[in-house]
Amino acid sequence: MKRIGVMTSGGDAPGMNAAVRAVVRRGESLGLEVYGIRNGYKGLVDGDIQRITSGDVGGILNRGGTMLYSARYPEFSKPEGQLKGIEQLKKFGIEGVVVIGGDGSFRGAQALANHGFPTVGIPGTIDNDIAGTDYTLGFDTTVNTVVEALDRVRDTAGSHGRVLVVEVMGRGAGDIALWSGLSSGAEAIVVPEIEYNIEDIVNTIKEGFTHGKNQGLVVLAEGVMSAPEFVKEMEAIDDSFNIRDVVLGHIQRGGQPNVRDRVLGSRFGAKAVELLHEGASGICVALIDEEIGTNDFDDVFNKLVHQPKLQFHELNKYLI
Ligand code: ADP
Ligand code: F6P
Repeated sequence: MKRIGVMTSGGDAPGMNAAVRAVVRRGESLGLEVYGIRNGYKGLVDGDIQRITSGDVGGILNRGGTMLYSARYPEFSKPEGQLKGIEQLKKFGIEGVVVIGGDGSFRGAQALANHGFPTVGIPGTIDNDIAGTDYTLGFDTTVNTVVEALDRVRDTAGSHGRVLVVEVMGRGAGDIALWSGLSSGAEAIVVPEIEYNIEDIVNTIKEGFTHGKNQGLVVLAEGVMSAPEFVKEMEAIDDSFNIRDVVLGHIQRGGQPNVRDRVLGSRFGAKAVELLHEGASGICVALIDEEIGTNDFDDVFNKLVHQPKLQFHELNKYLI
């Protein structure tokens, strides 16, 4: 193998640049030429592909977002799109590709591998929702960003005697809500993985006020419902609260990657290239008990289950 491609796809995640840098630099050290595919699968199909060298990835390690840009491109779900993408790769003489992205991006990567094109994945998403890896690239930075926002929200809630319902990202997963909710001392954390009882939540917060608290914080995963909807549900039970909803939105995805994601991105990137170079395909790298391991895409989708290191069922134990 002489020439490989690298792309970022789906929602950007802090640390993606560190992974791209590592793919390029480790790739070069193995004698490979590395090509950057811009705008995810869209750029792949359009042939938006160009050579990137060690110098091009200088100064990106500490930057948020992705220097290769990203895109949502539903057309890639169809075989026609996938085959067009492979045609483009072959046109550029590219013999293997590293795909950095989340669950959807991994489906695309699996499709490329199934068509016989050597493909290795790097789990890069803030959601931490990929089976077989303890953490995805970007999750740690995002949780820290969210906690900083929640600390701020608490200050203003406490000044006004308010209850704040803060909606955080995560798609169908509650990991961001769980980690950030625990870290900010939320009165309630609501995630899709666990049934909740809105009356219990209302009562807990009410009790808090009775015992002298001057604020209440509910951290709500977007996969449950929106914050305005949740506020309505709370008000339907008790309209005596002074409630505000906050939707944190894309602030959670932006910003400089923290140390953990810089290191994780670098380790994932280097390993992914080594695997491609050794002839691997249809697999992704993973963090398993702090070691870099691998999983087959087929197992990620059909066999493995995402098991967060902080278990959802432990949730109540911490809300004391
Ligand atoms: P993420 O990778 O962060 O989960 P998406 O779910 O939007 O983000 O997926 C990113 C891209 O991966 C999609 O825009 C699409 O191009 C591609 N993709 C998603 N699902 C599939 C699929 N089932 N087959 C092939 N490609 C897919
Ligand atoms: O997958 C990352 C993520 O930020 C999810 O948490 C969120 O649901 C989604 O992407 C938002 O997507 P977009 O940036 O396309 O609005």
